[in-house]
Amino acid sequence: MAEPKTNELMEKIVSLCKRRGFIFQSSEIYGGINGFWDYGPLGVELKKNIRDRWWDDMVRRRDDVVGLESSIIMHPKVWEASGHVGGFTDPMVDCKASKQRFRADQIFFAAVIVDGKTAGYVSALESDRTTEDLQEKAETFKRKKAIQGKLEPVQPRDFTEATAEQIPLIPSPATGEPGSLTPPRGFNMMLETNVGALRDESSVAYLRPETAQGMFADFKAIVDTGRVKIPFGIAQIGKSFRNEITPRNFIFRSREFEQMEMEYFISDEDDWQKWHRYWIDWCRDWLLSVGLPANLLSEYDHPKEKLAFYSRGTTDIMFQFPFGVQELWGVAARGDYDLSQHAKFSGASLVYFDEAAKRRYIPHVIEPAVGIDRILLAILCSAYCEDEAPDDKGKMETRIVLKFHPRIAPIKVAIFPLLKNKPELVKKAQAVRDLLRPHLTVFYDEAGAIGRRYRRQDEIGTPFGVTIDFDTLGEKPELLDTVTLRERDSMQQTRVKISELAPLLLDKIR
Ligand code: GAP
Repeated sequence: MAEPKTNELMEKIVSLCKRRGFIFQSSEIYGGINGFWDYGPLGVELKKNIRDRWWDDMVRRRDDVVGLESSIIMHPKVWEASGHVGGFTDPMVDCKASKQRFRADQIFFAAVIVDGKTAGYVSALESDRTTEDLQEKAETFKRKKAIQGKLEPVQPRDFTEATAEQIPLIPSPATGEPGSLTPPRGFNMMLETNVGALRDESSVAYLRPETAQGMFADFKAIVDTGRVKIPFGIAQIGKSFRNEITPRNFIFRSREFEQMEMEYFISDEDDWQKWHRYWIDWCRDWLLSVGLPANLLSEYDHPKEKLAFYSRGTTDIMFQFPFGVQELWGVAARGDYDLSQHAKFSGASLVYFDEAAKRRYIPHVIEPAVGIDRILLAILCSAYCEDEAPDDKGKMETRIVLKFHPRIAPIKVAIFPLLKNKPELVKKAQAVRDLLRPHLTVFYDEAGAIGRRYRRQDEIGTPFGVTIDFDTLGEKPELLDTVTLRERDSMQQTRVKISELAPLLLDKIR
């Protein structure tokens, strides 16, 4: 597929992540394992900042949301009650010729219609230019087969909509030839394990595919603590596992990932649409607060006919990734389905007694669910930038900058002695580092020309640089104990008193 610009950007981001220690392929020295990723020294800091900020805003700064950390492996019946054992499937298609496996909803096909007659089919994997891609393939098809007449614009459909007659005629995206794609069939994405000494059916357990069920299973335990009253939420951050058919687009869809989910319980008589809207707006505002630009965000309401029978409405906050507009954060109104199912399967009463209303009922729930890895990728994609800046000799060169919001930048400030062979400068710079370290993540760097050191920090998104020079030591007496403070994006430098650095930087980062 010809989509050089977007792929080029993704390639640059993946390469920068590896080069600078954000993200590596898991078990790379063994050839890697598809769908699993490791976060390096800068990646863990970035991820932790996202996680901590969500937890602060979602749990610590609210009176109506409490936290939870439930176990990854739960009683297997949890997943029967939730419907995952029976129904957590993706439609899968095999290409018998290439032995490749695809998700059916990611293969798109279109009839090549010339003068109102179907001459054949073309196919393409989903991308941000699927329609253009199919149109180009239809034109090539018509030319190669020397078909005369007027080609109609293609009408893309995904492979789940292909009829039994169409399937043998649709070319495989792997080979370009028809006849090798199987009809879609359900593939359960639960990752299984065994618990205990025996390895048989009785010991089968699952790695959780979402964190949400922990909140439902512990609902009663949390209500019994007496800390919460409807409306209230239970939030959790943790790893989830899905045996995705086609993990792809770097960390966008992985087999092991981390979710941040919150179940907000409301009265069965409350206005669910009001709360649904409230949480969509909350999620959107939160994404803006970590630096995602508003123009790359949009909303997608799932059509009523595609919702699960119990679902009242689901809205996804979408993000314009380089590979297309994709789901970032789902906000679902799930009625009382989950609690009712767990009451049914466990036999426990999950009825809530509402003291204010003097009524008993099963609460309804609104669920904002997001993956940290996906937010991190969105942040990387929107922060990546190339501009021009002068090098140490004044010659213009390309500068790579990650324009992270200071709140989530892995390193907040870099400290540079102007020269490393001047012990007085080094000593003073180390004193400034020690002064700031209790308040901020700092990085001390004395190696190489100052311009190169700035570039290295720009590339990892450090928003501020502090340089200790001879004026700091009092060469100009009026500048004694001042430093230059450089801002990453504008590259502007200002002179600041050392005693004022910490409050000034903390204020800018907040
Ligand atoms: N409890 C509801 C739930 O898990 P979901 O839409 O399947 O809903 C919620 O997942 C969010 O988790 C998604 O919007 C996405 O951000 C993230 N997510 C889901 N599958 C993922 C995967 N394979 N890799 C990375 N993130 C994923």
